[in-house]
Amino acid sequence: MTAKPDRVVVITGASSGIGAATARRIATPDTALVIHARSNIDGLTNVADLCREQGAAAATATSDLTEAAASSNLIALAQTEFGRVDQIVSNAGAARRAEFGDLQESGLRADTELIGMAFFRLIDAALPDLKSSHWGRVVAVSSFVAHTFGANDSVFPATSFAKSGLEGLAKALAWQLAPHGTTVNCVVPGYTRKDPTGHAAIAPAAWEAARRTTPDQKLGEPEDVAATIAFFLGRDASHITGQTLHVDGGLSLL
Ligand SMILES: NC(=O)c1ccc[n+]([C@@H]2O[C@H](COP(=O)([O-])OP(=O)(O)OC[C@H]3O[C@@H](n4cnc5c(N)ncnc54)[C@H](OP(=O)(O)O)[C@@H]3O)[C@@H](O)[C@H]2O)c1
Repeated sequence: MTAKPDRVVVITGASSGIGAATARRIATPDTALVIHARSNIDGLTNVADLCREQGAAAATATSDLTEAAASSNLIALAQTEFGRVDQIVSNAGAARRAEFGDLQESGLRADTELIGMAFFRLIDAALPDLKSSHWGRVVAVSSFVAHTFGANDSVFPATSFAKSGLEGLAKALAWQLAPHGTTVNCVVPGYTRKDPTGHAAIAPAAWEAARRTTPDQKLGEPEDVAATIAFFLGRDASHITGQTLHVDGGLSLL
């Protein structure tokens, strides 16, 4: 580990799945990671240990991002541990499978808090750091449910609402941060295999149907999405901002 990392990266939803795969992918000696989840401490600890084995510095934190102070506290922790925040991967989320009639206002609010408001609050707290960073990056993890409706006879209106809003926030931020050299992009996973501790919105049997629905006939792996996030976070993507890239085996073609 270098005494002074080249970048300090905050990743939410990093105890399993896409967030965990992203942390593992970018964990190199020039990187300090702050990995966060709601409550899965064992998952976070495993990921942090792997990242440290790869030479990165790593700190862990848990809190519920639907609570107003959680996002700013997370940014403050990163600043205390590593001095600043250069990059944010806003990845924490889950899909709420409830149609109109079953969907409650409380569900709509909860998805909005976790996905849109948490993004807003993370950015708000880190904005001065993101503007002054020499390697500023933001990646928001959206979802196919903001683009594809009725695949496998399912709709996720609350999650569609929140993820669509997230993509709007990200584009507005991309415009605002472009003069500072900080990029902001969205990655849109299709059906992506869950870790055993992940939060699956569809039954195990439905994953086979999801695979068949996907044009390339494959479920995505968390590593597929992590590779795209890592690209956006990397030096090579410095001239790419305001983009929304689907990692979905062609699902968005339907
Ligand atoms: N897998 C897919 O098929 C798929 C498809 C489209 C989009 N996505 C998006 O990709 C992202 C990652 O999905 P994944 O499948 O990799 O997830 P996952 O393995 O189920 O992990 C979700 C992560 O989010 C955290 N989280 C959930 N609710 C939270 C809350 N209220 N406060 C703080 N953290 C919270 C979880 O922490 P705990 O474990 O501690 O609860 C966990 O670390 C999500 O935004 C999801 O919407 C996934």
